[in-house]
Amino acid sequence: MSLTNKKSRIVIIGAGAVGSTTAYTLLLRERMDELVLIDANQEKAIGDALDMSHGLPFLGQSKVWAGTYEDCKGADIIIITAGAAQRDGESRIDLLKRNVAIFESITTEVLKYNTDGILLIASNPVDVMSYFTWKKSGWPTNRIIGSGTLLDSARFRYLIGEKLNIDSRSVHAHIIGEHGDSELPIWSLANVAGSGLSLSDEDKEEIFSNTKNAAYQIIKAKGATFYAIALALDRICTAILHNEASVLNVSTLLQDYHGVSDVFLGVPCIVDRDGIREVLTLEINDEEKGLLEQSAAKLKDIIGTVSM
Ligand code: NAD
Ligand code: LAC
Repeated sequence: MSLTNKKSRIVIIGAGAVGSTTAYTLLLRERMDELVLIDANQEKAIGDALDMSHGLPFLGQSKVWAGTYEDCKGADIIIITAGAAQRDGESRIDLLKRNVAIFESITTEVLKYNTDGILLIASNPVDVMSYFTWKKSGWPTNRIIGSGTLLDSARFRYLIGEKLNIDSRSVHAHIIGEHGDSELPIWSLANVAGSGLSLSDEDKEEIFSNTKNAAYQIIKAKGATFYAIALALDRICTAILHNEASVLNVSTLLQDYHGVSDVFLGVPCIVDRDGIREVLTLEINDEEKGLLEQSAAKLKDIIGTVSM
């Protein structure tokens, strides 16, 4: 809930698996006063909003409705989860053309009604879609946030915690770079309470492979991923609405980050009421710097194929 008298509002564009699960998560945790769902399939958004509204007597005072782009007016955060999702065997990059076309129309509509909110992007390939949104909007980079490698870092911390039998909330470890196949683990800085991790090279290989391939595994099993990303998006919204200044691995514009510039990638950022307050430069080793450069080069090549 808002700390001021103004009602806090989150708009979710794309009430599919990710959008509706995120909406439900935000409602359960009573994160905002007003929640608006927008989808090309309006019936789906209406159905979700009704279904969730009927749970409000068990929750709090939030309102949820299926809206139009006009409802973006005054919204604090607009989350974009619309678009094509991977099918079994597809990579996130395979979604590029379809989702750029969808984002072209969505951002045009949003920008008619909102010029000072925060755009939070989850649709894939998320780093490219965030870059596209930044270019298209002309907004300062602090107000364009991609979910980046926050989900990947959570998967990484969970798997390390399982291997060491330690609460994953006490594991400090980062996945940075692309939210996708060229992402990289920062083993050199991974720790529990400042102590290094007692993991063999085989353990590390297994943990990173399972982190990187988690989405493929889940999509093969049930067609989509949505619970953990919903919690990751909730985490970002909370950092913003509560002005937390939390450090989260989100996708942002890099400028001379270990020599990498002009590309959106996931790195640790301080997130507060203004969005991204600061990008933190991790002290990574030379091997990790090389992997980050490769990830950036891959994404820049892809960005070069999109007209913006
Ligand atoms: P989904 O197919 O269940 O939902 C997509 C929704 O978008 C549908 O309801 C569809 O009607 C809507 N839509 C399509 N075009 C639209 C438009 N022009 N305007 C408004 N709505 C429109 O897909 P999903 O599983 O919810 O995944 C959504 C996106 O999120 C995909 O791109 C997926 O790859 C991505 N994703 C990202 C992460 C992450 O970590 N960033 C995690 C999971 C999924
Ligand atoms: C994920 C999506 C598919 O779960 O990007 O990682």
